Amino acid sequence: VKSIGEILSPILHLSKPSNILIYGKTGTGKTAVTRHVISRLSTTCNATGINATFVYCNTRMTGTEYRTLAEIASNTGIAVPFTGLAVSEVSGRLQQHIKSNALRIILVLDEIDYLAASFGDSLLYDLTNSSALINPGFLSIVGISNDLKFKESLGARVLSRLSEEEIVFPPYSATELQTILQERAKSAFKPNSYTEAAVNLCAALSGSEHGDARRAVDLLRIAGEIAEREGSTNLEEKHVRIALQKIDQDRISEALTTLPLHAKLILIALTKDQTENTSTGSIYNHYSTLCQACGIEPLTTRRISGLVTELDTLGLVSAKLVNYGRYGRTKKITPQITIHTLTQAFQDDSSVGHIMKQPISQAC
Ligand SMILES: Nc1ncnc2c1ncn2[C@@H]1O[C@H](COP(=O)(O)OP(=O)(O)OP(=O)(O)O)[C@@H](O)[C@H]1O
Ligand SMILES: [Mg+2]
Repeated sequence: VKSIGEILSPILHLSKPSNILIYGKTGTGKTAVTRHVISRLSTTCNATGINATFVYCNTRMTGTEYRTLAEIASNTGIAVPFTGLAVSEVSGRLQQHIKSNALRIILVLDEIDYLAASFGDSLLYDLTNSSALINPGFLSIVGISNDLKFKESLGARVLSRLSEEEIVFPPYSATELQTILQERAKSAFKPNSYTEAAVNLCAALSGSEHGDARRAVDLLRIAGEIAEREGSTNLEEKHVRIALQKIDQDRISEALTTLPLHAKLILIALTKDQTENTSTGSIYNHYSTLCQACGIEPLTTRRISGLVTELDTLGLVSAKLVNYGRYGRTKKITPQITIHTLTQAFQDDSSVGHIMKQPISQAC
């Protein structure tokens, strides 16, 4: 809050603040903190009679370059038709409007990586160019991204203008999450309906796993819902542990149901195979039989090996290369989910549901 506030504070002396690029993983408070600073600055400007405009725009929400520009334009007091003009025409009008009215604008472009990934950096080029050229008046840009590789998609000129200042938001520590969650608990729950230990456990678990405040708040909320559903009058540590399990299970089921068909079949072949440490070769036979049962052509072993690597990345299997010295190396694959979980996720699946209902010997 202090760093962003300091960088933007020249607006209080009617000078142009530097552009800022803000980075950090998801849930580290980038949006919340930036909006907080903007709102405080806006209040101070109003109270002291400083004429300034603050525009917040999430480029993923606005969707296209045109709509992003139209949103900025309407927030700064010029009307732009819904469609019909070229993007460069709108950005030219916006620039002219800021100049002729000597407007002082701080523009927050949240999820700016979306804009650059979908449409290239031409709009950002126009905006940063305006930011450098407009006089009188100014346009300062605060770009926010949770994609750390986003910079690579920008041209050198856009990058150097946009990142006059850079701020990185690190993941929250358990202690920081504790403060955030204690405040949330106070406003979410009735007094004496939760234990401090339960809130602190949410913070400790989230801090050590990801440092994501959104997921930490979610964990607390789900724990509260579980306690409520159980008819308990007090949120305790046991509810947090159940909530954590539920979140993990939900995440796994979502990962499972959205897998491509062949990946589902590989997982079924692996999980139904009772031998330990299956190799790619031995799964392939099981997998081919399952393909036959589904009436589809099996993929090549190379493609299967690629899918196994993807399943490994998702944490659904563990694939390790084992070295047999002069007998070569082979990939040993172990499923990380139980047959029960898999059955629950796939039993109603239109393409593989019927295989799940067969006994092991018939399925493989
Ligand atoms: N310092 C904080 N104090 C209170 N609540 C916070 C704080 N930081 C984050 N939060 C809360 O955590 C959630 C996620 O924060 P936020 O939306 O700012 O993350 P983000 O870094 O913008 O994530 P993303 O990259 O996914 O957009 C929000 O509900 C927000 O209110
Ligand atoms: Mg955000």
